[in-house]
Amino acid sequence: MDDKAMLMIPGPTPVPETVLRAMAKHPIGHRSGDFSKIISEVNANLKWLFQTQNDVLAIAASGTGAMEAAMINFLSPGDQVIVGCNGKFGERWADVAKAFGLDVQIISAEWGKPLDTEAFRTALEADSQKAIKAVVITHSETSTGVLNDLETINQHVKAHGEALIIVDAVTSLGAYNLPIDQLGLDVVGSGSQKGFMIPPGLGFVSVGEKAWQAYETAKLPRFYFDLGKYRKSAAKDSTPFTPPINLYFALHAALEMMRAEGLEAIFARHERHKQAARAAAKALGLPLLAPDENASPAVTAILPDGVEAEQIRSAMRKQFDIALAGGQDHLKGKIFRIGHLGFVCDRDILTIIGALEATLQSLGYERFTPGSGVAAASQQLQ
Ligand SMILES: Cc1ncc(COP(=O)(O)O)c(C=O)c1O
Repeated sequence: MDDKAMLMIPGPTPVPETVLRAMAKHPIGHRSGDFSKIISEVNANLKWLFQTQNDVLAIAASGTGAMEAAMINFLSPGDQVIVGCNGKFGERWADVAKAFGLDVQIISAEWGKPLDTEAFRTALEADSQKAIKAVVITHSETSTGVLNDLETINQHVKAHGEALIIVDAVTSLGAYNLPIDQLGLDVVGSGSQKGFMIPPGLGFVSVGEKAWQAYETAKLPRFYFDLGKYRKSAAKDSTPFTPPINLYFALHAALEMMRAEGLEAIFARHERHKQAARAAAKALGLPLLAPDENASPAVTAILPDGVEAEQIRSAMRKQFDIALAGGQDHLKGKIFRIGHLGFVCDRDILTIIGALEATLQSLGYERFTPGSGVAAASQQLQ
């Protein structure tokens, strides 16, 4: 049957009908009064979602573009930066930093394990010359389903005093409580196809005052991603370049929906779905890659034993038209990932777990009592 596809990957995420309808319009002029009004409302709601009075700048880019902008606007060639690497995306930010000629120190952890906050403390305390200019952290490491302890690492950065903290919140923004102003996070990047419930194409960067000061002297080359241009335009309810207008329509509608649900309810929903997915995996005898204490609210990575991850994905796709994500790099073929980010409801979780049980049975995996996964998930959804 067509038109019943269910997207349960950690981005792109499902898009609500209201949002799809909002997008399905003829574009309007991006310098028109009507569009200025949309920009003004979108920017106000982005500040609400990011829990900040900082500028939250939207650029026509994916999350990687947002993170590139988050780094290059505040640093100069040869600057020392620390990058936390415990998965695909942390590694990507180290590559971006190297590509721009930064002096990169990597603090790594095994994929599936959280970053060791003490390693950040040690490195920052040892820097008596205050040469470290930034610390780049991936909050929710989507490739493994690990939520890094950003709060503690941020405290160590604050104690250092000089370094900026630059955060990849691509799959934590809109899923996990990230009070940017309260934590004093200098630069935070995210992307539209995740917790924002709209298609890919917009990247977001929140920039605080300390980062704007660094911007004044930063010498890395920038043009399209020059955030100063976006800031100037945002002050006039405008954008420096032609924006993806229909994505703004979508974002306008999605942010209204999020405001109606409320931040606390949104975070509680993601927490509930994380707990349900993890409880179900345990009941089904499926090992989880990330530890309970550092589990992402956006994605659950499962490392099956006694049944092939790719067979599960392929059977789920064929029989139920449910898309799950696979592993990346060395985890390819070893894990599968359930995305529960954005426009996901309790019913979706029960559907996934029910379909997963049926799939496991059809693959001859018998290490569970039929119904136990659904029962464990339902208990968390009470
Ligand atoms: C944590 C994280 N950072 C960065 C990215 C990259 O975003 P994009 O693919 O939109 O460039 C992703 C995408 O999945 C992500 O999950």
